[in-house]
Parts: sequence; structure tokens; C-alpha cells
Amino acid sequence: MTDTTTAPAGTGGEADLLAGFEATISHNDRIEPRDWMPEGYRKTLIRQVAQHAHSEIIGMQPEGNWIGRAPSLRRKAILLAKVQDEAGHGLYLYSACETLGVSRGQLTEMLIEGRQKYSSIFNYPTLSYADVGTIGWLVDGAAICNQVPLCRTSFGPYGRAMIRICKEESFHQRQGFELLMTMMRGTDEQRAMVQESVNRFWWPALMMFGPPDDESPNSAQSMAWGIKRNTNDDLRQRFVDMSVPQAKVLGVTFPDPELRWNEERQAHDFGQPDWDEFMQVVKGNGPCNTQRIAHRRAAHEDGAWVREAATAYAAQQTSVREEGLA
Ligand SMILES: [Fe+2]
Ligand SMILES: [Fe+2]
Repeated sequence: MTDTTTAPAGTGGEADLLAGFEATISHNDRIEPRDWMPEGYRKTLIRQVAQHAHSEIIGMQPEGNWIGRAPSLRRKAILLAKVQDEAGHGLYLYSACETLGVSRGQLTEMLIEGRQKYSSIFNYPTLSYADVGTIGWLVDGAAICNQVPLCRTSFGPYGRAMIRICKEESFHQRQGFELLMTMMRGTDEQRAMVQESVNRFWWPALMMFGPPDDESPNSAQSMAWGIKRNTNDDLRQRFVDMSVPQAKVLGVTFPDPELRWNEERQAHDFGQPDWDEFMQVVKGNGPCNTQRIAHRRAAHEDGAWVREAATAYAAQQTSVREEGLA
């Protein structure tokens, strides 16, 4: 942050603070945790960063489902590394969120009580090993489209976490594409598995960008605050334009009869996902919502002894240190 955001000593009213905040945003400087910020900005960020952190952690489940059934040691090592990366992403983001004055424990409680959300995509099941490749290619690919602009988001800790996360997401996308490419060079049965998987994930991947702009009530404010840098529809278009040539290289098609190149717009036209289905999934009625939260809740409860042991150990270390000083 630059000095322009510091309220002059002695004048310190809310209007000065707000003017300083807005100056920082308009200069594309970062807001840092020590800085004054409007309550709405803080709340919006907590909601967005927490939702993002929860998505990383819940997103470990659909792929974790296949670690024990990976077809080779190499595939298992790749998948393990990928799922562990997602745990790391969750931790960076929970840490970023904690700088806004909410604890990781509180955030976890809100997730398992259904008071905070995670990405709708992780409420779909993984039915074949091809899904591991499709998730890497399309789901991590969509995540990259969403997240690269967030490296420039106005809140410092969030933007810095995103820089590291995006590097790892690129690896995830490549490993997914490479897995699918290998299967496409295999048998007819393997090629059919890939196409079936792509058919199931295409529309849910498009939904990851959120509802169309005219039905996305918080977008304008988030863009004005520099939290969001592009609209949902812009990012969705970017993702479609990026994915079509990749699908050609792979030799798969997308299940959208309206998908075609528009010479005038220099972009692809495409159909709309089933937004009613999206709303149902967001409301908790997707194919795996109950299972995902039940699994997260059980993992949290099973981990209670670790948290208790760590707390007891920290207290013991403190008392040992204090005795040493006495
Ligand atoms: Fe991730
Ligand atoms: Fe990822």
C-alpha cells in the first residue's frame, strides 16, 4: 500500500478513510490486512476467499476417490501430488482469509453447517479414471481462467496466494490433458471412456464461471472494488475459446450443437448450460452435495484429537520456556 491510503493524522473520520481506500483501489495498489477497509469489502472478500478455500478442500474428494485405484504407479504418484497440491491451495487461502479477522476453525464450521459454499463442480461424481484427466483438463482449466486475473485482485494476501496457486494449476491442467491424450492413443474402449467423461463434465465446467452477468447481482460491486477483474460471461467465453482447439488436438467433441466459430466476433458461439440444474446444485441438491459435506464433517471430527494434541503440546512448550526463563 502507498501513503495515499493513510488517513491524515487528526482528521481520521470515516469519509477520509474511505477516500484513502478508494484512492488505493483506483491506483491498482493493494489493500493489506492492516489497512482500513469498508465492512462490505471485508465481508465480500471473506465470502469469496472462504468459498475458494472450501472448493480446494472439497475438490480433493472426487479425485481422491481414485488414488487407490490408479492404473499404474506413475498415475498414482501424479494423482497423489495433485490432490496434495489442492490441500496446499486450501491452506494458503484459509491463511489469507484469516487476515480478514475470521479463524480457520470458524470457516470450517461454516462449511460443514452449510453456511458457506464451495464450487458447484465438486458435487458431481467421478465415475471412471478418465474423469481424473477431464477434471485436470477442463476443471483445472476453468479454474485457471478464473484465477489468473485474481493474481491482480485488490486484497494483497489473496492476490499473492493466487500467484503460487496458478503455477500449480497449470501443472494440473497439463497432467489431465496428458492422461486423456494417452487414453486417446489407446483402445476404442478407452477413447469412448474419454468422450463419455468429457460429455458429463463440459456443462458443469461452464457453470463454474457462475450465472450469466445479468443474473449476477454482486459482480458490479466486486469489480468496482477490484476484487473481481472480469465478468462471468467474459471468462466463460475465454474458456470456451481456449478449450475448442485443445479438444481438436485430443480428438473429442463437446456436447453442444450450438458450438461454432463466429467469424465476425472472432470467438465461438455456444449454448447455455442448464441454469436450473446449476441453482439446484448450489442449493445443495446436486448428485453429491450430501456425501461431500458428510465426508468433510467426518474428517473434521476424526481430526479432533490431532488439534487437541497440538494445542496441548503448544501449551506445554510455552510453560517449559517460561520455566526456563524463571
Ligand atoms: Fe487448486
Ligand atoms: Fe488444481
